[in-house]
Formats: sequence, C-alpha cells, structure tokens
Amino acid sequence: MRFSPFVERITGQGVAAWDIHHAAFDAQRDGEDVIILSVGDPDFPTPDFITDAAVHALKNGDTHYTDIAGRPSLRQAIAARYTERLGRPVQSGNVIMVAGAQNALFITSLCLLQAGDEVIALDPMYVTYEATLNASGATLVRETCDADDGFRPDIGRVAAAITSRTRAIFLSNPNNPTGVMLRTEELQAIADLASAHDLWVVVDEVYESLCYEREHVSLASLPGMQNRCVIIGSLSKSHAMTGWRIGWIIAAPALIGHAETLMLSMLYGLPGFVMEAALAAVLAHDDVTSGMCEIYRRRRDLMVDALSDCPGIRVLKPDAGMFVLVDVRGTGLSSLDFAWRLFREARVSVLDAAAFGEPAQGFVRLSFTLGEDRLIEACLRIRDFVGKTRMARPLSVASTC
Ligand SMILES: Cc1ncc(COP(=O)(O)O)c(C=O)c1O
Repeated sequence: MRFSPFVERITGQGVAAWDIHHAAFDAQRDGEDVIILSVGDPDFPTPDFITDAAVHALKNGDTHYTDIAGRPSLRQAIAARYTERLGRPVQSGNVIMVAGAQNALFITSLCLLQAGDEVIALDPMYVTYEATLNASGATLVRETCDADDGFRPDIGRVAAAITSRTRAIFLSNPNNPTGVMLRTEELQAIADLASAHDLWVVVDEVYESLCYEREHVSLASLPGMQNRCVIIGSLSKSHAMTGWRIGWIIAAPALIGHAETLMLSMLYGLPGFVMEAALAAVLAHDDVTSGMCEIYRRRRDLMVDALSDCPGIRVLKPDAGMFVLVDVRGTGLSSLDFAWRLFREARVSVLDAAAFGEPAQGFVRLSFTLGEDRLIEACLRIRDFVGKTRMARPLSVASTC
C-alpha cells in the first residue's frame, strides 16, 4: 500500500532522539537504579486544587462536546493575563485553546506555511520543530546559534537568510535545549526584520515562567507585533501539567479563526473537565509558578556547581527552563556515544543535544526535574564516569583537553 509523502515529512532525527530515554524508562520499570535526566517532565504533582476542579467537573457531567475554540471563561482568563504581560489589550478573540504547545505549533505551522515557502528557525530547536514545520510542506531554514556565542542568535545572519520566499521566523524563548532567554535588543531586532520583510514571528514561550536571571519579555509586547506575532503557551511546564495536554495560541483574530476551523476537523474541541482544571490553574498562575520557579532555580545552581570543576566537561548555566547543557567534547567522545555510555555504564540517561540541531553537537542535555538528592547522585555518577573515561584514553589525546 502507498502512503502520502506527508508521512516522510513528519519523520526526523528528533524522533530517534528518544531511544535512549525509552531504554532508560524500560530499565527503570524493570527495577534498575536508573536516574532519568532525559525528559522535561516536571516531577511535581499537579497541584490538588487544579485536579479537584477537573474531578468536580467530571462528577457534574462535564463529559460532552465543548466550544471548539475553548470555553469563553478560560479564553477570557488567558486574555486577561496576556493583557497584563503584553501591556496592551488582548481579547478572548485573540486566544484559542489547543491540546498543548506541540499541537499549537503544528496548527500554526499548517495555517501559515505551504510548499514553496521558507521558514527560518533558530537552531538548536526543540526536537519536534523539524517535523512540525516540514508537515506544512515549507522548507526549514536552520539559522545557527553558535555554541561559541553562547547559543545566542546572530541577527545579521538571520537577516541574510531572508529571501523572497521567507514567510515566518520560528523560535522558542526561552530556548530548549540551551536555556537561552533572548534580550530585549535581540527580540527588537527580530521584530524589526519581521516588519521590514512582512513576516510572521512565532514564539514558543512554554518556559516563560521559569526564568532565573531577569523578567521574561515577550516579543509580542513590542510595537508593531500585534498582528504578526503568534505566541504559543501551555500549562505543561509552568503548572506540572504535561499529561493534561492543554495549551493555547495568542494571535490576531483572523489566524485564530483559521486555527478554529482546523481544530474543528482535528479534535472538535478539548475536554470540558480539562478546561475547568486549566481555568483554576490560570487564575492562580503566579501562586503556583513562583514556588516551582524557586525550586528549579536551586536545582539549576546545584547541578552547575556540582559539575563546574569536573575536568573534561564544561557546564553551561541556563538563564531559564529546566535543562543544563554540558559540553562533553573534552572527553573525546561524541555526544551520542557519551550519552549511551553514560547510560550503560553509570545508569544516568541524558539526551544527545545534537538531536536538537547541529550547533549542539558535542553537548548533552540534562534535565533538573528530579529532587536534589537524586540530582547530586546523578552528578557524582557523571563525574565518576568522566574521570574513568579520561583515564582510559591515550595520554596524547587526554593531555590536549
Ligand atoms: C520548547 C518546547 N515547546 C513545546 C513543547 C511541548 O509542550 P506541550 O507539552 O505543551 O505540548 C516542549 C516540551 O518539552 C518544549 O520544550
């Protein structure tokens, strides 16, 4: 039987990146002492009052079809939060509820792009971006953020990558895997390029509440961005709600209308009880996120401190998010070999960051979604593994690191 070329477009190296995670997960299920740092799923339970809102709704018969674009009360609550964040009025008509940020990216990509278009994305990028953008038929143009520049974008190079076929720039701010949060000048420069070349800018802000160095600035708050900037958000990371599959798109009403038509044929709306839980979560946004943010900050500092003086590796301190990147080139191993050997020999699973894009070749990504004791144990195992690996190398190679 034949399949459409579409099925080829939605495979990418991002899919294979999870092999090590699945292997670690299986080993843990078999009772092995594995420390899993390969996924960005918060270890906190979803706060009780949020779960209670869903249970209450379920028990009261909230088990039927709902509004395709999302419950008006929820869209209104999200619009009110973004009115505050962006410093300009955001209405319910600027908001559509979808099944998580991943779903939001997919819908946005299909609504904005088509074959023949080019879409620029800052590289490294979240693993599923490649398939998500390719699904539209557009050509993905990876714009390198060099490791030597701390994975920050070179705006001159972004400008040079724009052609008459470019339709959009996609980025996540803060970034996964690098944890880089863009400065206002960088956001402004991207906004200026978008205005000058009549482009959409799609900004994935799923980590906006986990910023450790300074306040998050949304590109959508900059002048002239109201109609061309699309913001992607979700409750997955901010409220420890990855399994609830709920997120949103904030955009001009015309795009929201097209997204609604697509939602109608894809999902026909979200579950009502999930939206009731989301409403409770959004109304208590700061109360929930400030406590979690402090815990993640402590864990980040702990990991950076625990690995910073380990010979052979270099740890990067992220501005935001729930991941630390570690440069393992000094061990003489590729990042893929490092990840697999670390898993096999020390029972710690991390991701080869090269799966997020070529600029992260030689780096591995560690999540800090475990308690402090486990993170300390993971860092000890990593130090021990790196030490043994260096000892086992020929002297001429080891001495050059
Ligand atoms: C940058 C980025 N965007 C989107 C997602 C997907 O989020 P959601 O669970 O809301 O679909 C992730 C998940 O790790 C992510 O890191």
